[in-house]
Amino acid sequence: MRLSGKIAIITGAGRGIGLAGARAFVREGARVVLAEIDETLGRKAEAELRSAGGDATFIRTDVSDSASVQALMARTRECYGGLHVLYNNASVFLSSQDGRVTDLEEAVWNKILAINLHSVYLCCRYGIPLMIQSGGGSVINTGSSASVMGVPGCDAYTATKGATVAMTRSMAVEYGPKGVRVNCICPAGIATEMVKASSLDDPNFDAEYFFGRAPLGRLGEPEEVANLAVFLASDESSYLTGAIIRADGGTTVTPIS
Ligand SMILES: NC(=O)c1ccc[n+]([C@@H]2O[C@H](COP(=O)([O-])OP(=O)(O)OC[C@H]3O[C@@H](n4cnc5c(N)ncnc54)[C@H](O)[C@@H]3O)[C@@H](O)[C@H]2O)c1
Repeated sequence: MRLSGKIAIITGAGRGIGLAGARAFVREGARVVLAEIDETLGRKAEAELRSAGGDATFIRTDVSDSASVQALMARTRECYGGLHVLYNNASVFLSSQDGRVTDLEEAVWNKILAINLHSVYLCCRYGIPLMIQSGGGSVINTGSSASVMGVPGCDAYTATKGATVAMTRSMAVEYGPKGVRVNCICPAGIATEMVKASSLDDPNFDAEYFFGRAPLGRLGEPEEVANLAVFLASDESSYLTGAIIRADGGTTVTPIS
């Protein structure tokens, strides 16, 4: 029970990496708020975790909306009395709409920035004060391979993921003295709906082939990211802050061949 006594919020916990994180957090004894925009996914995840004996509560949340995020924090306080772990996981990768800056519609740019980046600001803006009141804790942000290398054809997504890494470093400096650690996981090639959709939207992109060329030679599983999230949420990572950790099978260190 590595997260016993911890209260955690996971955004985008209805499927993929967020759901795997919720399963792992509950298994390790955390009480978990599932902050998800999709009512059906959120309810299903809540039912699954509760039927396995876990303590999980779905709160419908749009992380790009200030009122929704403020309500999330207020309800978390009501339900569980505090907050120790804020896992900013929700994002969108709109591969059929995102693109090069010169092709990118302003509305698409604004939408992706709102969901992927403004959300991190909002959740931290309203979540970190609750964490400080609760005695400190751990913020886990989510970057991407696009945070650390050039990924063409998705400049809005890339902008949000680069900025998330930059914010991680600044917030680590700002909130370390207050007992809040801030780290960032940069996944790539994890077998989720997001990766499946990017292959379907772009017939030239074959995810299995692309990630198969990485040193570990395969797509990753959401549980492999969840294991890292448990470590960052737990006191085992008590001396880590400002760390940008890749969970990508070596994709971003693979030489071009
Ligand atoms: N899968 C990968 O290989 C990969 C690679 C790089 C980065 N990432 C990052 O990992 C995180 C999780 O990705 P995934 O592959 O599990 O994605 P996913 O699309 O499978 O799941 C994302 C979840 O976020 C939810 N969501 C979307 N918009 C929301 C909003 N406004 N408010 C609340 N919830 C919202 C969705 O409903 C969904 O349940 C994302 O930040 C993503 O950018 C994933």
